[in-house]
Amino acid sequence: MKQTIYITRLLPKEIIAKLSEQFHVRMWEEEDIPVPRDILLKEVEEADGLLCLLTEQIDEQVLEKANRLKVICNIAVGYNNIDIHAAARKGIIVTNTPGVLTETTADLTFALLMAAARKVVGASDFLRSGEWGAWSLMQLTGQDIHGATLGIIGLGRIGEALVKRAKGFDMQVLYHNRSRKQEIERELGIHYRELKDLLQQSDYVCLLLPYSPEVHHLIGKKELSLMKSNAILINTARGGLVDEDALYHALVNGEIWSAGLDVFEQEPVPVDHPLLTLPNVVTLPHIGSASVKTRMRMALLAVDNMVKVLNGDEPITPVLIV
Ligand code: GLV
Repeated sequence: MKQTIYITRLLPKEIIAKLSEQFHVRMWEEEDIPVPRDILLKEVEEADGLLCLLTEQIDEQVLEKANRLKVICNIAVGYNNIDIHAAARKGIIVTNTPGVLTETTADLTFALLMAAARKVVGASDFLRSGEWGAWSLMQLTGQDIHGATLGIIGLGRIGEALVKRAKGFDMQVLYHNRSRKQEIERELGIHYRELKDLLQQSDYVCLLLPYSPEVHHLIGKKELSLMKSNAILINTARGGLVDEDALYHALVNGEIWSAGLDVFEQEPVPVDHPLLTLPNVVTLPHIGSASVKTRMRMALLAVDNMVKVLNGDEPITPVLIV
């Protein structure tokens, strides 16, 4: 009998075709929105493999029902939507999609940094709304990027890719990471700092670390107060890393200069969220890895992981092997 795969979102035809050759494929395909929880809870009972997005909370309640499940393939590099400890207890393998999205996410991180520094979005709105009366000397002035100091918190693959972009702009790069990476420091010409020092010395602070409860609100009131008043905070990692209430107050009170946010504590971020009312915030709807090529590569990598595991082979990019 064919093994069953449940896919939590409508995926491109090529992807489904690849899986359908060998497996019985079921899929949430009604709309391009997250699968309703009751359907997920029911489908997971019959599934040998689960292919999901970061919008699905694969928690204890889901995993309790998963009596046949061998593998969960997340189409994302972050996997904080999956309770990996509960998965481990049930002997379920978890995979993610690192590597294939590195450069694309570094591109977007730098784009967001530039947009926040040079008021790209606000300036465009200014023009379109007819406010552009005359050119004036200090109109819409932003912060320089070239020659500034970039502080990266979380020096993984994406952090390293961001360094290359920053070096093209003659930036000085500082980083903070759980473990110091001296060889990479030498190779890329970057400098390690304790978190407090990095916050005090950077003109741009980019968050590029994975989210876990241990780093919940890593950037809060105290950390924001350490930053320079011309500093810009960029978050393309996970919303939970930043205390949004503290960030709002820091931006309103001029403790920091602006922020670029691709991620939020609650996604989609409610349209009446206070941060969305501020002119010194550039906001994006979690599009770090959103290029056509990269999103396809992510889906294909997740599928390859699925095929490997269900055929009894080692996954290519495991988060957890049991
Ligand atoms: C996107 O946020 C990802 O984790 O891939």
